[in-house]
Amino acid sequence: MLALYRKYRPKSFAELVGQEQAAEIFRNAARQGKLAHAYVLYGPRGTGKTTVARLIAKLANCLSQDHVKKEGEPCNACAACAEIDAGRAMDVIEIDAASNRGIDEIRDLKESIRVSPSSYTHKVFIVDEAHMLTGAAWNALLKTLEEPPERTIIILATTEYEKIPATIASRAQRFHFKKIPLQTIVLKLKEIAAKEKISVSDDVLEFIAASSDGGLRDAESLLDQVTVLSDAPDIASVEAIVGRAGAKRVIACANAVIAHDVAAALEQIADIQAAGGNIVDLNKELIIYLRRALALRFDPMLESSFKDELTKEELASVKAHSAAIDPQKVIELLKSLIRAYTEMRYSPFPHVPFEVAMIEHLG
Ligand SMILES: Nc1ncnc2c1ncn2[C@@H]1O[C@H](COP(=O)(O)OP(=O)(O)OP(=O)(O)O)[C@@H](O)[C@H]1O
Ligand SMILES: [Mg+2]
Ligand SMILES: [Zn+2]
Repeated sequence: MLALYRKYRPKSFAELVGQEQAAEIFRNAARQGKLAHAYVLYGPRGTGKTTVARLIAKLANCLSQDHVKKEGEPCNACAACAEIDAGRAMDVIEIDAASNRGIDEIRDLKESIRVSPSSYTHKVFIVDEAHMLTGAAWNALLKTLEEPPERTIIILATTEYEKIPATIASRAQRFHFKKIPLQTIVLKLKEIAAKEKISVSDDVLEFIAASSDGGLRDAESLLDQVTVLSDAPDIASVEAIVGRAGAKRVIACANAVIAHDVAAALEQIADIQAAGGNIVDLNKELIIYLRRALALRFDPMLESSFKDELTKEELASVKAHSAAIDPQKVIELLKSLIRAYTEMRYSPFPHVPFEVAMIEHLG
């Protein structure tokens, strides 16, 4: 069975989510027949860089250029589009710089770049993990970019833009891929779940999205894993996979903290232990949660960035708690929780430092 994240790789810019600005620029360039010789696509994992690189290859080589000029999209019906989608196109060369390191490959690349495309109009080189290239490789690339051969497009994709030499970056069109907002990920997961006839609640999808840190591939993989484990996945099954406490549990802990309710706090700790959950992670999540509530108290503008990272339930709760907390007390508790975190990781009784921190501050 094909993994969901491969099955649902966008075949057009219209299907790409969260990168509207970049998508619009590529479509316009395609309509005007003005693709560049070189691109640098950079940004976090699983946000669409390789996907877009293949879309560019299709724009350049689609046999129905009338369609491309009209729609700014590949036709997805011709032989070239099909071959590129299937990864069988001779003239679209993908190099994983993380595995094919070194001068040799790039020396091959240099020669290969000089050879005209064999069956398509454009030869497209996609260098993934480009930050892994070596000095000699960069020099070879630079020479090519200084006098780019006709009908050649070089696309560098990387998660680490700072490692791309300025001499290279300045000769390419650069596109920053952003983390994908949580609710956008949820919508995409809903769409996939419907198509795959997976029954999964909005709560669970939100939790999956919140655990993926803005990366859609991670979210789709997680959905895959969760549904393999269970026909009707719940929050607990996601918690088990990601080793991360769900929003409800963290909020319950925070409620106990705000209410100075030691018994309730200890109950939450006992509860997650009984459920086989990871107690170190619960502490960590609580730290992150309280830090957000504290920060929001002093900078209300943070709400808009939290919106892209938190579930609706978490955001509402962080806001309420941010208004209710005594900042000085929360700062003290945070310090203890952080100290407890370090102790917990090496302790045979990880719950003890956590409990002591709670009792000390809430008791
Ligand atoms: N912006 C997006 N819109 C729609 N689907 C996406 C997007 N980004 C990622 N995906 C999904 O995740 C999968 C992997 O995306 P892709 O290979 O393009 O990520 P990447 O940015 O190249 O990641 P990496 O840095 O790890 O190489 C796609 O096949 C698709 O299912
Ligand atoms: Mg990639
Ligand atoms: Zn086509």
